[in-house]
Formats: sequence, C-alpha cells, structure tokens
Amino acid sequence: MFKIMGITAGRKNGNSEILLKEALMFCEEAGAEITMINLKDYEVLDCTGCTACTKGFSQGKNVGCVLDSKDDKKKIMEAMLDQDAVIFSAPTYDLMACAMFAKFAQRSLSYETSFLESIGAIEHRDRVSALIAVGGSTRSWQSMALESMQAAMFTTDFKVIDMYLATRVPAPAQCLLDDEMIQRARKIGENIMKSVNTPAEERVWLGDEDMGWCPNCHSNALILGEPQWDGLLYPVECQVCGAGGTLEETPDKKWKFVIQENGLQRDRTTVKGRGEHLVEIAHTQGGFFKDPKNFEVVKEKLGKYKDKTFKSL
Ligand SMILES: Cc1cc2nc3c(=O)[nH]c(=O)nc-3n(C[C@H](O)[C@H](O)[C@H](O)COP(=O)(O)O)c2cc1C
Repeated sequence: MFKIMGITAGRKNGNSEILLKEALMFCEEAGAEITMINLKDYEVLDCTGCTACTKGFSQGKNVGCVLDSKDDKKKIMEAMLDQDAVIFSAPTYDLMACAMFAKFAQRSLSYETSFLESIGAIEHRDRVSALIAVGGSTRSWQSMALESMQAAMFTTDFKVIDMYLATRVPAPAQCLLDDEMIQRARKIGENIMKSVNTPAEERVWLGDEDMGWCPNCHSNALILGEPQWDGLLYPVECQVCGAGGTLEETPDKKWKFVIQENGLQRDRTTVKGRGEHLVEIAHTQGGFFKDPKNFEVVKEKLGKYKDKTFKSL
C-alpha cells in the first residue's frame, strides 16, 4: 500500500485545503494510505541559522536540529519522509507561498537527504511530490508562488511530478464554484498515483505539457545570468532549477527558453547538480574559516557595528 501525505498551510476549510483534499481523495480511492495535516495546527519555529546541522554533516555526524525538542517539526518530518509521495498546498501571500509554508520548509536543512545519505545516516528513498498554489488573482500576482514551493523540494529530494496554480479564488472555499478547478486538483491525485506506480527511474513530469518557461523543471521564472562564483555564465537561467541557456524566437514569433549543452551542470533538482553547490560552499564559507587572518579582520571591524545602537521600539 502506498503512503501519501498532504501538507497544507491554508485557511481551515479554505481553498488550499479543499483542493488538497480533492487530490488526496483520488489517492484514497486508489487504495493509498492517506495522512493529512494543516501546518496551522502545529508549532514550527524559525530556523535560527546556527548551522549546527551542516557543521555536523561536514564532520560526518547527524546532530539533528537544535530546535528538535522545542516544536513539532521533527514529528512532521518523520512522517513526511516516510511517505511515497507528498502533496503540498499553500496560499499565495505577496506573490509567493505564505510565510508559514516557507518557515516550515526552511527548517529542513538538518534533514538534507543527500548529506544524510553521504554520511550513511539514512538510506536513499525515491519520493515524488505535487504542488498546489492558490491565490486571489491571476498568475501575474502569483508570480513566485509555485516557484517558491518548488525551491523547497530540493533539500529533501522530492521529485515534483505535477504543479497547479489555482487562480482568482480570493474568498474562502471559492474554488467550489469552479468544477474545472476541482477536476484539476483531482488530476493531481491521479498523477501522483500514476507516478508512485512507475519505477523510480522511469518517473516523468505528468503536469500540463506546456507549463512554464523551463523545459527542465517547468518553472515560469527566468533571470538574466550573471557570472557565478567560479565564472560560469549562462545568458539566461531558470530561477528555480538553475538550468542555463538562452531565449530563442520561434517561427510563430513566440519566445522559448532553450537549455544549452552544459546548461544542466548545476541542475538543483538532482543530487549531482546540488553537489556543485556544496563545492561552492566549501570554497566560499570553508575558505573564510580556513584563514585565521579573516577572524582577526572581522573582530577588529565588528566593534564599530556591535557597539552602535539605534532607538528601538
Ligand atoms: C496577507 C495576504 C496576502 C495575499 N497576497 C496575495 C497575492 O500576492 N496574490 C494573490 O493572488 N492572492 C493573494 N492573497 C489572497 C489569497 O491567496 C487567497 O485568499 C487564497 O484563496 C487563500 O487561500 P486559502 O483559502 O487556502 O487560505 C493574499 C491574502 C492575504 C491574506
């Protein structure tokens, strides 16, 4: 029996919750064991930025998170990482997934699956996910909603196989007026079941075929490339997966993003591509710690800022 979980950050009985439940109902009818939570029912504290977890990883140890015993994150993660698939849904606030979703996701660093696998703390497990973002406006006012959720999938290595942007449903449960929207949410459940029933190495994107600019991750967000830490420069990059390439005009006067030959070198959706970022961290952060002179300079210059205070509230 497949285990499928739903995690939402929307209002109780709101649009995100309803669309998630519709997708999960398909999975339940298809025989999956379902778990669903609303993050609003749990306490999740902000990442303190202490980096104890990553310092531990660099010494080959799994030290966990300093907040493990202080809130519900660990309990949720143990359930979440024990699934075959997870469907996430979140409302769009200020163009991106709401803060509650982001706060939850940004506490996942101590569960970085590729680090944990590399030190032998966990076995590799292939999982898939699907994402639903819900907003009151059109894509224009939800420009980073799905993309910000996609960005939260790398750390725990969830392969995104479908995404849906539910637009123009500002009122609570307004999605219930739109049968097509409900059907599309149900399709997410269908796609998730199809994916978990497919051998991991054959799993592919099952969402809308023409979705997004990026043919690699289907995000709808591109940035102009700038030289990276080691000089690598792509004219245009996918904001989410880091694919590099350029824009080409099609015969029918449209634009498409074409990934260049080495454009997937830093594909953040793959363990190998993310590994390149570890090399960067070792170079940039590791480089800082390696040279004792850096500490002296920082100590000397920090006083000016440490001792300076302004009127507070
Ligand atoms: C603080 C706040 C910010 C919002 N910002 C956006 C926005 O930038 N774009 C948008 O399309 N909708 C925005 N909305 C509308 C919500 O996304 C919309 O009401 C959605 O249906 C909420 O989902 P829920 O019913 O699952 O809670 C915002 C709502 C709130 C409360």
